Amino acid sequence: MLSFEEATARLQAAGQTHVLRFWSELSGEEKDVFLDELSQLDPEELSQHCRAAAEAASRASGEGERLDTHMEPVAAEFIGSVCKSDKETLKQWDDEGILQIAENRVAVLLLAGGQGTRLGVSYPKGMYNVGLPSGKTLYQIQAERIQKVQELANEKNGSKCTVPWYIMTSEFTLEPTEKFFKENGYFGLDPSNVIMFEQRMIPAVSFDGKIILEKKNKIAMAPDGNGGLYRALVDNNVLEDMEKRGVQYVHVYCVDNILVKLADPVFIGFCVSKGADCGAKVVEKAYPAEPVGVVCRVDGIYQVVEYSELKPEMAEQRHPGGELVYSSGNICNHFFTRDFLQEVAQKFQGQLKQHVAIKKVPFVDEEGSLVKPTKPNGIKMEKFVFDVFQFSKKFVAFEVLREEEFSPLKNADGAPVDTPTTVRRSLLAQHYRWAVQAGANFLDEHGNPITPKLRTAQDVDPPAICEISPLVSYFGEGLDKVLKQKSLKSPFLLNVNNAKSLLPNS
Ligand code: UD1
Repeated sequence: MLSFEEATARLQAAGQTHVLRFWSELSGEEKDVFLDELSQLDPEELSQHCRAAAEAASRASGEGERLDTHMEPVAAEFIGSVCKSDKETLKQWDDEGILQIAENRVAVLLLAGGQGTRLGVSYPKGMYNVGLPSGKTLYQIQAERIQKVQELANEKNGSKCTVPWYIMTSEFTLEPTEKFFKENGYFGLDPSNVIMFEQRMIPAVSFDGKIILEKKNKIAMAPDGNGGLYRALVDNNVLEDMEKRGVQYVHVYCVDNILVKLADPVFIGFCVSKGADCGAKVVEKAYPAEPVGVVCRVDGIYQVVEYSELKPEMAEQRHPGGELVYSSGNICNHFFTRDFLQEVAQKFQGQLKQHVAIKKVPFVDEEGSLVKPTKPNGIKMEKFVFDVFQFSKKFVAFEVLREEEFSPLKNADGAPVDTPTTVRRSLLAQHYRWAVQAGANFLDEHGNPITPKLRTAQDVDPPAICEISPLVSYFGEGLDKVLKQKSLKSPFLLNVNNAKSLLPNS
């Protein structure tokens, strides 16, 4: 840990000595905590960061204009697609993906360092219970899908494989996430295959490039964005761990999509068979202002333009037939080869663009009292996970069906979209469809048949409530054996135990 004199010298070099203005008022213990925090800041990086933040904030407004003339959509023929591909092709990709999984070449990597500000909970989003009949949290659903996809690969290839689960956390989420996994026995997974690591935090800075103090002895810090992944991979020797395990392909995804297909064999198989080093899943955008980035090309290079940086006029552009011009919505499901990650980590990680978020950052005023600002006062700089697409030698996009694969939890109930209620409905509607397609009949609480209806509006529950454990079915497969011609009383929860008893010869 630095001495006070060393810390002062560092801060002087970075033009940031104002953070020590309450030093004489601090207790011995508070001083130690502060010195510990200051010791972790690299002086050169710090002054660069503060300068860049102030400059970027003044430049940010010009970015939209540049995109107006340099951005173009990705032509449909360059996008692989679930709905435009025939059954045979889909099966080939699925087989390829399953084979890679069976041979231990696939890992999943969860980005879970965000603060979940919009949802408004103080704990990591993955611990959220969206009110399913089973009471499962997002983490449990994801863990069970990993377990099931391993099982499917084992059955098909007669092997015993592992899909390691890497989880990137931050100072906010590491401790509670670790505790939650321990308390829940890692949801049946082997703890040695669940690898948590932490991304870095960086200071929030005022518009004039000065670090903001959130307490008399604490700098306002925030995670460095989900693009902090690449530095965190290096800091924590994650790529070495992957290499040791023989992992070659990594499925990176964000925590909040209740329908996420972990290690999706079709997506993996598609990317592998195209020889891609980098890939992104997209869905058709639902409406112009939907808060999803768009996969497009800027100056001929594939990238995602984030919703916060796309001007409304661009988002609203339509083709003569009425379809949105920028319609490939990024669902934060990415494919990378380990070689590509290695190259990015070694060569390009320092070049990743810093995006500017202007935020209300609580701070201590001259008297040392905490102020919660009513208007934005600070700059948080973030890197984005998809900003590495530009370094890819072979990038592919893959379009999937929203109703099957994308329903994110972003907002608290009461908001019109992406809430606990809407994500619960998406999952239950999907499971209901799977059950009906497998030949199940549903009865209401009085034993009367419920008329099947496969399409329901997003704002209502499906006709019958049916939840299927991922341990029984990963993506609807194998259900006809269990559910064909069965009469099921709504609400119905299919889990490993009752699935066994529903089998014909049990
Ligand atoms: C993200 C995508 C957006 C996409 C949308 C789909 C990015 C930058 N944006 O937007 O293009 O259309 O999802 O739902 O990927 N995270 C970290 N560390 C951080 C910040 C975030 O790990 O420092 C994680 C979050 O925990 C989350 C994921 O990254 O799992 C996405 O972050 P979030 O801020 O929710 O992104 P969105 O704005 O929803």
